[in-house]
Amino acid sequence: MTTDTTTTVAPTGETVLDARGVTMRFGGLTAVRDVNLTVNSGEIVGLIGPNGAGKTTFFNCLTGLYIPTEGEVRYKGNVLPPKSFKVTAAGIARTFQNIRLFANMTVLENVLVGRHTRTKEGFWSAVLRGPGFHKAEATSRERAMELLEFVGLEKKAEHLARNLPYGEQRKLEIARALASEPGLLLLDEPTAGMNPQETRATEELVFAIRDKGIAVLVIEHDMRFIFNLCDRVAVLVQGEKLVEGDSATVQGDERVVAAYLGEPFENAPGDEEVAEVEAAEAQAGTPTDAAPGKENDR
Ligand SMILES: Nc1ncnc2c1ncn2[C@@H]1O[C@H](COP(=O)(O)OP(=O)(O)OP(=O)(O)O)[C@@H](O)[C@H]1O
Ligand SMILES: [Mg+2]
Repeated sequence: MTTDTTTTVAPTGETVLDARGVTMRFGGLTAVRDVNLTVNSGEIVGLIGPNGAGKTTFFNCLTGLYIPTEGEVRYKGNVLPPKSFKVTAAGIARTFQNIRLFANMTVLENVLVGRHTRTKEGFWSAVLRGPGFHKAEATSRERAMELLEFVGLEKKAEHLARNLPYGEQRKLEIARALASEPGLLLLDEPTAGMNPQETRATEELVFAIRDKGIAVLVIEHDMRFIFNLCDRVAVLVQGEKLVEGDSATVQGDERVVAAYLGEPFENAPGDEEVAEVEAAEAQAGTPTDAAPGKENDR
């Protein structure tokens, strides 16, 4: 089966993801409680909330890593199978909060691994290495190189994944996720550990992914990134969805400010200050992992 979502853009507004009443319990702890969330085609939706709010657990429920205790998850109208490789084959791809790459494989090989749900060549074809296999392999390599170019890693195709700087490893994870030709991409803290320039480049990359017709659901603690990027933002607090709306609605909601944001977003460092930080960094030549708005984190 080959579903090339990069060329067939779904009509804007079609419900891509429909999670209803998702609850996840671990023994006595309810990590996610009765969460409803939809993502429509053409949308970038943010999922924010304090540490331990249940954001990653919710992603795990969407991707077949966990079977929700209660609730149902549909992708383009169909209930998802409770196995992560089947969810990927259905059209949902993801990256992980703790990067999961094959460290001793090359950058290109990591992306090729991500394509396996989209190649129909099976075991015997690989063993016999007939013309069908060679053709499929060449097509896969071509597509993988296209994706590396898309994320800006084409010059590093033959490097070992473990030798990439942290920010590039995150980009590689995105390229690998895109290799399964998803209709929905889930990103779990894609800018964690990135410097301001890398964070801004990632913002552009997410817009470019959306422009290819792939809907995006993104978890991030960097509020500047979230509010710049997202059409809609949902806030999870202690496993429950507290508020959902556009950036202005969420930033202005007193409950969100009290439970998570802590202070009005307007008080976060402005662009001028960010530019100053960047200029200072460029002079010192020392990379930093502080994202905009997180300068006081450590
Ligand atoms: N497999 C598990 N078994 C037991 N408890 C778990 C498991 N996975 C997550 N939890 C608990 O569920 C709660 C939610 O965790 P989760 O990792 O989803 O939070 P999060 O919102 O992603 O936080 P962060 O912003 O720190 O990544 C936490 O209390 C966590 O300890
Ligand atoms: Mg998490």
